[in-house]
Amino acid sequence: MRSEAEGPFFLLSRRRRGLKFPGLHSFAPDKPGGILMMDLNKEKPRALELRISRGFNLGSFNPHGISTFIDNDDTVYLFVVNHPEFKNTVEIFKFEEEENSLLHLKTIKDELLPSVNDIVAVGPTHFYATNDHYFSDPFLKYLETYLNLHWTNVVYYSPNEVKVVAEGFDSANGINISPDKKYLYVADILAHEIHVLEKHPNMNLTQVKVLKLDTLVDNLSIDPSSGDIWVGCHPNGQKLFVYDPNKPPSSEVLRIQNILTEKPTVTTVYANNGSVLQGSSVASVHDGKLLIGTLYHRALYCEL
Ligand SMILES: *[C@@H]1O[C@H](CO)[C@@H](O)[C@H](O)[C@H]1NC(C)=O
Ligand SMILES: *[C@@H]1O[C@H](CO)[C@@H](O)[C@H](O)[C@H]1NC(C)=O
Repeated sequence: MRSEAEGPFFLLSRRRRGLKFPGLHSFAPDKPGGILMMDLNKEKPRALELRISRGFNLGSFNPHGISTFIDNDDTVYLFVVNHPEFKNTVEIFKFEEEENSLLHLKTIKDELLPSVNDIVAVGPTHFYATNDHYFSDPFLKYLETYLNLHWTNVVYYSPNEVKVVAEGFDSANGINISPDKKYLYVADILAHEIHVLEKHPNMNLTQVKVLKLDTLVDNLSIDPSSGDIWVGCHPNGQKLFVYDPNKPPSSEVLRIQNILTEKPTVTTVYANNGSVLQGSSVASVHDGKLLIGTLYHRALYCEL
């Protein structure tokens, strides 16, 4: 029986390619993205690029957030936020383990998904996703951030119903779910906040609390065994958008324990000035190992 605690782990191929996003530096602007898999149960895990089934447009593949859903019959569905030509779609794939390949099942577009950032799957075609901007047009996006409109939101998607379930974020970024599936966590990157939201049977969300931090909180991952939240952060956002190799963006990873209690414990687990790792955006733990991903640099594999 496969469980989410056992991996494999899917990574986005940003190594030497990076997320292509208006205003963001890219080391390989002409190379399309890909999906890599790394089995952290192996002694010396290596990243393996998965083959994607024919018929899917790989040339314009520009992946952003990804999430897996494992069905009762052990089928692994992979949900991928995609920005082909800077548009916004969610692609659903089925993982074919024997062939190490992904079978493309479906492309989802919706007017409530104008600027998707991250996604958390809660069913074979059901998910929550964040919009990091209200508008999709680059100029209006810029204006929106400049005017500080707080118009970004979280959307629930199912084939029968699409709805806004939380709103009022400066820029909703990473999203994830607690191991007991009762709470969603949303990183508001520009507001330096993590929001805890309770999930109800009708899939609506209500706010439980907001944790303020003094860094740009990018993306969240959850330790499936403890429920701790691991956060990839940017201590200096300016350096991400004005990329200077002599003053590279730094990296920071926080661990948040007991977020529901009155005094959650926040620990800085990793910090680097950019000499080793630039622009950390996410950190995932598995069985005493930590994998830190970045916006457009490399990934770092650590022992805890
Ligand atoms: C955020 O982190 C999760 C792992 O917890 C990952 O699956 C997802 O792709 C990341 N999203 C982005 C936008 O980097
Ligand atoms: C980063 O720190 C290292 C060692 O602490 C130092 O040698 C290096 O000059 C620093 N780099 C930058 C870009 O500040």
